[in-house]
Amino acid sequence: MSKRKPGFGKQLADLHRWNGWIVLILTISGLLLAWDVVRGWLNGEARNPIKQLHIILGVLSGVLILLYVPLMKRHLKQIRQRPKQKGNLSFVMVLLVGWFLSGIVLWQIRRFPPEWANGALIVHDLLTWIGVPYIIYHSVTRIRWMKKPERRSIKTFEDHTDNSIASTVAAHSNREFSEPTPWINRKQFLKWSLGAALAVAAAPSFFRWLTTSTGGALTSTPGGMKDVSDNANLMIPDPTPLPDSVNVVGGGAKGYFRVYTVTPLPTFDSKTWSFTIDGLVDKPSLWNWEQFIGMARTVQVSDFHCVTGWSVYKNTWEGIPLSTLLRQAGLKSNARFVKFYSGDEVYTDTLTLEQANMDDVMVAVLHDGKPIHRDYGGPVRLIVPQMYAYKSVKWLDRIELIDKDHIGYWEVRGYDTDAWVKT
Ligand code: HEM
Ligand code: HEM
Repeated sequence: MSKRKPGFGKQLADLHRWNGWIVLILTISGLLLAWDVVRGWLNGEARNPIKQLHIILGVLSGVLILLYVPLMKRHLKQIRQRPKQKGNLSFVMVLLVGWFLSGIVLWQIRRFPPEWANGALIVHDLLTWIGVPYIIYHSVTRIRWMKKPERRSIKTFEDHTDNSIASTVAAHSNREFSEPTPWINRKQFLKWSLGAALAVAAAPSFFRWLTTSTGGALTSTPGGMKDVSDNANLMIPDPTPLPDSVNVVGGGAKGYFRVYTVTPLPTFDSKTWSFTIDGLVDKPSLWNWEQFIGMARTVQVSDFHCVTGWSVYKNTWEGIPLSTLLRQAGLKSNARFVKFYSGDEVYTDTLTLEQANMDDVMVAVLHDGKPIHRDYGGPVRLIVPQMYAYKSVKWLDRIELIDKDHIGYWEVRGYDTDAWVKT
């Protein structure tokens, strides 16, 4: 029994404290990352620093797990008579290791196929919805003021000998026997109230998440897009879908789109909407809505991958291949890059001519046979299936041919200029 190195209890307590602070900041930064409002903060500048902080602390949390491994055997022995603490320990270890592994995949997203990122995001979110309320419950109920005054001096992380564990356990049981046992005591009451409050607070968001992250299986709209009947755009008439598009050749989109925007969602009206191609072209053009939807379209089925981890598979997009538009406009010999403008007047991005001429790059007007909802970039959005979706400019209304590279909105704010999805 006296074989133990001195300071074991302090080591554990230090690890517990460091871990507590790191988990607190990870939780706050993680929730900020998930909260779409934050994207617009500081004109989009806030997101990348928050993400960097989250990743650095995430890696540090992995270091703490490693530091705990050599202490684990002895810690387990110390708490072998405390089933609740053992349960707590196993659950927290599953949470921490799960967050760490899924977090690494989300961080190194471009090294993994999109299915991995998708799974990792679901795991990461699920652990957050379950783990954070649990940890809040743990922290608050273990805080000293929740304990009866006579128990406040018992320091659980101290270097217990088996005797002291025994006497702690005895103190516990003596107290329980010597007190009259009301139906529910003060501490139980506080614990139950807190547990219920956390459950009530977390449950609605959890179920909303569940119904939207499970491949749209529990949502009524196919592909997890809102119904176009509540589309805030006033684009008249609707484009008439091609037969392939109506029959959704791919069977319809699988997955759920999350709506991200850095600006208030813009609204468009066919009376004022226009589409332009200009810059280094022989024939600059301007279309109104009716002219635009009068152009010949094609149909493609492709997957859609967001760099934050989620994907929507088998989307049936109908639109004009970008290469067709470029060919019709006739490029001047000094044209090198294609710059895309969003109708929100903030967002831009670029492709090289070679990328822009890929077969599947499309200026899309229909998704699964329906007009594209305003929230998902309609009436017209770019689709670049082989790259992360920050390249697929929403509310597209202008294409300009330029001779020097232009760094897009998110790339200026820390996203990789190389947006290729690993296949
Ligand atoms: C207490 C532990 C943690 C909590 C509560 C947490 C929470 C979150 C949440 C809520 C998100 C947003 C997910 C979404 O968009 O739906 C997120 C994203 C992310 N987390 Fe964590 N996380 C934790 C630990 C970690 C760890 C250990 C890593 C590892 C390096 C990590 C790396 C990431 C990355 C890379 C993202 C994606 C950021 C983005 O592009 O949106 N997280 N986390
Ligand atoms: C994410 C993981 C965890 C967090 C954020 C966390 C956080 C906290 C907080 C804030 C307190 C109150 C501290 C105070 O009043 O001084 C606490 C107390 C406590 N925690 Fe944790 N904890 C975590 C994991 C664990 C694990 C895995 C165990 C061990 C099985 C554990 C055992 C305890 C004990 C025994 C106390 C009471 C401490 C005392 O009275 O000195 N915790 N925890």
